[in-house]
Amino acid sequence: MTTSFLHTSLCRDLDIQYPIFLAGMGSKGRATPPELVAAVSEAGGMGILGCSWLDSAEVRRRIRAVRNLTDKPFGVDLLLPASMATDAKSERAEMRARIERDYPKHIAFVQSLMSRFNLSPAPVQGEAMSPEFIRAQVDVCLEERIAVFAAGLGDPSWVVPEAHQVGMKVMGLVGTVRAAERQVKAGVDYVIAQGYEAGGHTGKIANFPLIPMVVDAVAPVPVIAAGAIADGRTLVAGLALGAVGVWVGTAFLLAEESHVHRAHQDEIIRGKADDFVVTRAYTGKTARDYENEVIRLWEASGLPALPMPLQGILMGDFVAAAEAAGRIDLVNNPAGQIGGMLTARRPAREIMMSMVHEAERVLDRLASMRAS
Ligand SMILES: Cc1cc2nc3c(=O)[nH]c(=O)nc-3n(C[C@H](O)[C@H](O)[C@H](O)COP(=O)(O)O)c2cc1C
Repeated sequence: MTTSFLHTSLCRDLDIQYPIFLAGMGSKGRATPPELVAAVSEAGGMGILGCSWLDSAEVRRRIRAVRNLTDKPFGVDLLLPASMATDAKSERAEMRARIERDYPKHIAFVQSLMSRFNLSPAPVQGEAMSPEFIRAQVDVCLEERIAVFAAGLGDPSWVVPEAHQVGMKVMGLVGTVRAAERQVKAGVDYVIAQGYEAGGHTGKIANFPLIPMVVDAVAPVPVIAAGAIADGRTLVAGLALGAVGVWVGTAFLLAEESHVHRAHQDEIIRGKADDFVVTRAYTGKTARDYENEVIRLWEASGLPALPMPLQGILMGDFVAAAEAAGRIDLVNNPAGQIGGMLTARRPAREIMMSMVHEAERVLDRLASMRAS
């Protein structure tokens, strides 16, 4: 009976068994590889491929790799920044030259990191996220007719009509009521409300106030809760706050199918909740990462972050050098406060099913609390 309670309207609409999503996580394709996406969908939830920063050919390759592993529905998440610091001709090299010309203190900061950690320059992979780059990513999602398109952080109004034409549902991720209202105006089918606790880019409002306020503001558009959801208690809490499903990031970083660096998984396993701090150091936007030496040095520098995507390009040089030298401890490890509760790597199915079974027990416990 409690299992059918977990089978929310969202499950019926998206043809899934449990209202649990693997959050689309970018991280150069490491956090949500096709194996993990397929495992979550196969287990009855919905896997979302995090494809921000991956070029359109790689997005297509990954979509097809998931299809080879499962015939269950899945989605793709892309970052659609609300504003781009660049115009259409925005190659990485051009932006790099612009940083060198306009922001000498920032260049000096990165040089000081390179010499402090004795790193040599390494080739930087990937392109900058120009409007053309994002348009090509979206086109692949439309052509491949995936079940769900999720937009992190940005304005999906231009995607919605095209997505609906091919039968794709659109979700927009928000951290405020205002942003939720904008997403609904843009025509999204679901709003994902992500609280301050969450890993990766995050806002200032915690889930307890955020989710019910967003639920009230956007009704009847359904809301999915994101941030610090990792077990049955937090799953039920998300539903109790009015959400119809949950969007789980950090907990799935410890899935055996995830390709995040082993050293980063270990940081999450040993991290306490307050080791996961908010910083603009690596991307220019506030993001919650496991605190490391680079974040401490950036905060101590007092420098203002460059607008997205310039800060990411600035720090991209350093991150590439650190990765090439095997200094994974200096590479950003986006993860949320709930990392303080996570203690082990597990198969994705086990992570999901333990959430489901614990949620059923929680619901039984709540029912038994009523005085007869
Ligand atoms: C490693 C990592 C990468 C992320 N990348 C993205 C992304 O590319 N796009 C996006 O919409 N959200 C991204 N997020 C946010 C997640 O979609 C999700 O909202 C968040 O992880 C939920 O909070 P939790 O980590 O506490 O579960 C990322 C989060 C993490 C931890």
